[in-house]
Amino acid sequence: MDATFPYAARLLKFYHASGRQLPWRGEGDPYRIWVSEVMLQQTGVATVKGYYGRFIDKFPTVAELAGADLGMVLKEWQGLGYYRRAENLHRGAKVVHDSLGGCFPETLERWMSLPGVGRSTAAAIMAIGWNQRQAILDGNCKRVLARVMALDDPVNSAQGERLLWQRAYELTPADRPGDYAQAIMDLGATVCTPRAPRCRECPWCLGCRAWETQQVDRYPNRKKPKVRPRYGQVAVLVQNSDGQWLMRRRPRGGLLAGLWEPLSTKRWLLPQLPPDMQKVGEELKHQWQVCGRNVQLLGEVRHTFTHFHLTVWVCLCQYVSGWPLEEEVRWWNPEQSDLPLSTLHAKVFAVHDHQGGANRIPSC
Ligand code: ADE
Repeated sequence: MDATFPYAARLLKFYHASGRQLPWRGEGDPYRIWVSEVMLQQTGVATVKGYYGRFIDKFPTVAELAGADLGMVLKEWQGLGYYRRAENLHRGAKVVHDSLGGCFPETLERWMSLPGVGRSTAAAIMAIGWNQRQAILDGNCKRVLARVMALDDPVNSAQGERLLWQRAYELTPADRPGDYAQAIMDLGATVCTPRAPRCRECPWCLGCRAWETQQVDRYPNRKKPKVRPRYGQVAVLVQNSDGQWLMRRRPRGGLLAGLWEPLSTKRWLLPQLPPDMQKVGEELKHQWQVCGRNVQLLGEVRHTFTHFHLTVWVCLCQYVSGWPLEEEVRWWNPEQSDLPLSTLHAKVFAVHDHQGGANRIPSC
């Protein structure tokens, strides 16, 4: 780091000349800034662009989001992934609307007390919406700062994070902190990219220690992530004589909370092989109290979650009798109504569709 280098001034100039035009830029409504920042937590700008506009059209105010059914909110989120974000946003909207009388928090701590709002998201909302001097530190900023500082501590270590937050705060200007926050995210996304960074176009090139020592590729340093375990599971598409699918709603809290799925077995650790078809029928009866006939394997789907890889064997069977002892179970005809499904389960149904099945599932 060069104490005399005009980091903020150079970055704001870059932002003025090359900042991205995004639908939420220039937005002063804290609700809309909040929605955009939550969507951007784990999803890239290119994807969020489309979802943001549709979400705001559907729920233009915090009151409308608070009053909506969670299923409708999840439906708008379908395909964005990390569905806990939608659930948290919905719960947060209820807090603002029901407990805070529709007034948004005006301090970092109060924003952070809303579900799903971490320090960097709260800081981005305060900087962009209130023009408050708040340091942000998302993944892009970490990479940029780790290079500027030539930080040897891993960015995912406690010490690395502490040093990054400290530097992030020192560099944030009192003047135009909101523009600065968006500018550093743009710098990370368009210039100081993970691979092949465009250092010659970088406004911070001359203040970057990694560049000075020609070691940009060495940063950011990261502790090796834990190896993701591999699990297997069987999803059974149970179809009745009207061509409808038997669906259950996943419980609130946990993976893919509140989304709908076909009946599925418990996950097991691979490489154990999937059960044979007779065992799938027995499992259906044992776990879901449902009898089916003609159980057949259609194919398999692979999906990666944050903490594990999953292989789903997709089976089809004809419904005979029984009903799961669950609160939310229903028959579903995809041609007549929409149900919020995860990307994984849209892929599961696509296995059936690709085999010439009659009921097409909208892909997301
Ligand atoms: N990533 C997170 N927040 C962002 C924003 N406001 N603009 C661009 N990228 C972002």
